[in-house]
Amino acid sequence: MCGIVGYVGAKSAVDVLIGGLKRLEYRGYDSSGLVVAADKALHFVKDTGKVRQLETRVHAAWPQAFRQRVGMGIAHTRWATHGAPTRENAHPHSDQTGRLALVHNGIIENYAALRQQLAAKGHTFVSQTDSEVLIHLIGELYKGNLFEAVCAALKHVEGTYGIAAVSVDHPDQIVAARKGSPLVIGMGENETIIASDVSALISHTRQVIYLDDDDVALLTPAGADIRNIHNVPVSREVAQVDWDVGVAEKGGFEHFMLKEIFEQPDALSNTLRGRLDEQMGTAMLAGLALSPRELAAIRRVVIVACGTSLHAGMVGKYYFEELADLPTEVEQAAEYRYRNPIIHPTDMVVAISQSGETADTLAAIREAKQKGALVVGICNVVGSTIARETGRGVYLHAGPEIGVASTKAFTCQLAVLLMMALKVGRARRLSRQDGLEICAQIKRIPDLVKAVLDRNAAIIKVAERYATAKDFFYIGRGCMYPVALEGALKLKEISYIHAEGYHAAELKHGPIALLDEHAPVMALLNNIAGKEKMISNVQECRARQAPVIGVLSEGDRDTATHVNDALHVPLAPHLSAPIPTAVALQLFAYHVARLRDCPVDQPRNLAKSVTVE
Ligand code: AGP
Ligand code: GLU
Repeated sequence: MCGIVGYVGAKSAVDVLIGGLKRLEYRGYDSSGLVVAADKALHFVKDTGKVRQLETRVHAAWPQAFRQRVGMGIAHTRWATHGAPTRENAHPHSDQTGRLALVHNGIIENYAALRQQLAAKGHTFVSQTDSEVLIHLIGELYKGNLFEAVCAALKHVEGTYGIAAVSVDHPDQIVAARKGSPLVIGMGENETIIASDVSALISHTRQVIYLDDDDVALLTPAGADIRNIHNVPVSREVAQVDWDVGVAEKGGFEHFMLKEIFEQPDALSNTLRGRLDEQMGTAMLAGLALSPRELAAIRRVVIVACGTSLHAGMVGKYYFEELADLPTEVEQAAEYRYRNPIIHPTDMVVAISQSGETADTLAAIREAKQKGALVVGICNVVGSTIARETGRGVYLHAGPEIGVASTKAFTCQLAVLLMMALKVGRARRLSRQDGLEICAQIKRIPDLVKAVLDRNAAIIKVAERYATAKDFFYIGRGCMYPVALEGALKLKEISYIHAEGYHAAELKHGPIALLDEHAPVMALLNNIAGKEKMISNVQECRARQAPVIGVLSEGDRDTATHVNDALHVPLAPHLSAPIPTAVALQLFAYHVARLRDCPVDQPRNLAKSVTVE
């Protein structure tokens, strides 16, 4: 996701655009740019880097007199999905004639086909982005009316967009449209602003209109004419925003971490978007760039990662071994790089890293490459070092994760690992029928997460009962064992409570000596294989007076009799069950930390990306 701002009115468009981008920078910040219309021309400034660097470039390029008198423009701070962060890929993009320009938030799924069709008509492209294809399509259909050209073009588009477009022929107009990516219009006095969220416009007006999917709006200083994509007028109510700017950046949530927990249905939908082949029962992961023959030649999977990403890899082991019938090892990246690992040319080494910059994970890949392994990356940040050095892989498309404690990246990593295992499995023993069943299960993941988020209030009540604990144990079995480790990490890193994750069967080999009435146990008792054994472990804990919180599948009343408290999650197939379970544990950890007045988004001693050994 990225940040979009558009302005038309009597103020300095440049000042409004730059100020708005600064408010949106948390949404994605690998590159930025703006375009203004003046003197029958479009004037662009864009490059990699942060908004403050853009501001410096703009002030160097345009004299103050020019900046003050220009009253229309659009701007963008990018979170790359298609094409690395470079000047050429930065927005705004222009059409073939250079008379139209556009900024875009989202993913145009069918951009490759559209690009091919336009190239056949003589269009040439300067970027690798899907967004540039869209403005070329608009340009191809433009006959002087920008609103009509945008509507006509969007009928050919599959995917998500929040866009603002301008034409040199109409220096007092902006055309905006949304489908799947947020856009809000600020209705000022003889001025109109469009932005990705209210934080970019709240200093100018608190009268706003939230666009709905398939809305297309024509903005002028007098206001907004909103229609649907078929040019039929629609009425949208004007809302009054009473947030302060700080809260607005978090979309009304108290912390970025909570916002990102609640973003997970959308983030997961973006991760899955266009990647499930429901004809062949497989996954379409173009970035892997591996043919079925090359996938079938893999004899072992080695996953290297750190922290939360390591926990995701541990769940991935279950996926690859079950779906692809491949032996899978999971290695802490620092240990792997120094151990002189035994690597075969038929190994596929998968590096998982949200930031794509973790030093130990990067070093592990370099060692694997040195020894001839096939290396693949699973990253969230497009163009990050690990993404570039693996040269192939799958992006999460989860959007920027600002909270230091990883949440949506973890669940999106699991979704990608599940799709990867499905794809490799379908190049080996997995049947089409079984593949189709797995596809159906994967498609339901965003709804499973939504069901957990709907239980936030119940989770708060349980968190209130345990917020003063000094020690916590998390226990799980099977693919829930790594989820127990991740749940413990979430709690300890944001609430500073000492929390340990254990395989449930391991407790009796020593740790159970620590259990008493002051040591609560979080037991992952989902309705999947191993639950009966888990219940025995829970009884061992209860026999030592330890209070037990059970993560239970909805409606599991029998198991509820064995625990003191419960976090309920929807019944889910065993392969996808780790995802809603992780979300319940994220919410629990978040509320405990909030109740302890901890700085949730920036816990002490931590950094979002550990780029040192
Ligand atoms: C997770 O909550 C932590 N912030 C940390 O463990 C993180 O997962 C780890 O540093 C790995 O980061 P990466 O995914 O960016 O490589
Ligand atoms: N898909 C577009 C790109 O990669 C927009 C990404 C965004 O939402 O910032 O440039």
